[in-house]
Amino acid sequence: MHTPTLETDRLLLDSLTERDEDAVYRYCQDDELQRWVPVPVPYERASARFFVGKYAKDASLSPTLTLWAIRSDGVLRGVIELRFEPLGSATVGFWLGREHRGLGIMTEALQALVEYAFEEDGLGLTRIHWESLVGNVGSAIVARRAGFHFEGVSRQSLVHRDIRVDSWQAVLLRGDSREPSEGWPL
Ligand SMILES: CC(C)(COP(=O)(O)OP(=O)(O)OC[C@H]1O[C@@H](n2cnc3c(N)ncnc32)[C@H](O)[C@@H]1OP(=O)(O)O)[C@@H](O)C(=O)NCCC(=O)NCCS
Repeated sequence: MHTPTLETDRLLLDSLTERDEDAVYRYCQDDELQRWVPVPVPYERASARFFVGKYAKDASLSPTLTLWAIRSDGVLRGVIELRFEPLGSATVGFWLGREHRGLGIMTEALQALVEYAFEEDGLGLTRIHWESLVGNVGSAIVARRAGFHFEGVSRQSLVHRDIRVDSWQAVLLRGDSREPSEGWPL
């Protein structure tokens, strides 16, 4: 799907381009990112080139995936994507470069994306699904702050580096409050 541009107080969400290759390559060397996100390890130049090139271009044409670059002051900070499923649902995924974490950037990006995704004039979704490997506290804090409801552990539901592992699952419905909910294992 064509990538709509979204703006928040601090951030601009727009398309990832080939000019982002160096930043993506650098950010994806990070141990913490590699621990939680299924990027190739070791992360080679070719992986960054593929991600900002074919992957981003395919996403801009695909009916099932939209990928946004998260920028502020013209600098790429990270990415966020939605994978669309039938009948108004999508799964969200995201990461930030190490030096941009802990500043509330992903909470701000996710909140903006959620609002846009639920608007009739936006994506018209009714459900957004979040999941992470069990123990990804930083990601869970972001989802909780955006109002997602924790639904539990799904056993061996994710394949991560060729191993089946348990995941945390949470969902936000269009009619839900955007206030943090109870029940998270945090
Ligand atoms: C997950 C991630 C996107 C969060 O983005 P962020 O912009 O740093 O998130 P925010 O600043 O909005 O909030 C994160 C909060 O969690 C806290 N936090 C992060 N990691 C934590 C941890 N391991 N234990 C406890 N708290 C943690 C931060 O201190 C911050 O809290 P604060 O605002 O009270 O200081 C970022 O940490 C990241 O890119 N991680 C690596 C990739 C990843 O895990 N992606 C998600 C895959 S599901």
